[in-house]
Amino acid sequence: MNIILITGASSGIGREFARQMDAYFSNMDEFWLIARRKDLLQELAGQLQHKCRLFAMDITQEAQQERLRDALEDHHAVVRMLINCAGYGTMGHFAGQNRAEQAGMIRLNCEALTNITHICLPHMCRGSRIIQLSSSAAFLPQTDFAVYAATKSYVLSLSKALSYELNEQGIYVTAVCPGPVDTPFFEIAEKNGSIMAIKKLTMVSPERVVALALKDSYFRKKMSVCSPMMKLLHVSAKLLPHELFLSTMKLLK
Ligand SMILES: NC(=O)c1ccc[n+]([C@@H]2O[C@H](COP(=O)([O-])OP(=O)(O)OC[C@H]3O[C@@H](n4cnc5c(N)ncnc54)[C@H](OP(=O)(O)O)[C@@H]3O)[C@@H](O)[C@H]2O)c1
Repeated sequence: MNIILITGASSGIGREFARQMDAYFSNMDEFWLIARRKDLLQELAGQLQHKCRLFAMDITQEAQQERLRDALEDHHAVVRMLINCAGYGTMGHFAGQNRAEQAGMIRLNCEALTNITHICLPHMCRGSRIIQLSSSAAFLPQTDFAVYAATKSYVLSLSKALSYELNEQGIYVTAVCPGPVDTPFFEIAEKNGSIMAIKKLTMVSPERVVALALKDSYFRKKMSVCSPMMKLLHVSAKLLPHELFLSTMKLLK
């Protein structure tokens, strides 16, 4: 059974992946949609043409990861596309942040993403794709978003290494690195601090991010960076000292 598996499918970018892939991928047997909010998964499933299997689960829980592993085995699933979207970030000074929230970011954005990828890999075949949601926050350290940016650097680094490791098996990995995207992400992110106004000017739609990510994945690109501003940030973060960015951002606040 050929499947597309999406984590974080109940909202934002993950939900948009499900919608766009529903239209483009006619040869899939099922979409496996994962997130904690069952009602939102059901609502999405009702809008898709494909048969959907819903997993209302917290993917940071080991028992739930095992449940997914068992389901893949029981259904002899072949994961043609894995989209790891589940993630969150919270802004604010490191010392003033809630420790459980910081640890939760690391557990979801890094550990769960790694485990889900590891669980899915034995069920992939030549031509399978992995899309990992990183962020432009991965390009350089970010004050007031320190832990989140570090988790996304982890995702980018992991994805780049995997894309080389898995190339011989014909499995292609793309790290998606958008700047701000107009989704409910900011309802959680801005609880204790707000995104700089200048960053909000670069906000793009989830439709645009996902359309480019699918195109870049099709062309086996290792990274997908949506807007010209973020492309510029990516190049300049490689060329210029990060201290320069950090002190400029401090001045702009
Ligand atoms: N929006 C942006 O500006 C932006 C920019 C760059 C990168 N990103 C990245 O893009 C990804 C998607 O973000 P988004 O903008 O689409 O945010 P979003 O609308 O808040 O979606 C986050 C998704 O993660 C799921 N999720 C959260 N905790 C979970 C858990 N423990 N177990 C299972 N699912 C969980 C949520 O579903 P439930 O709450 O139902 O579990 C939701 O479906 C994230 O990795 C984010 O870091 C976002």
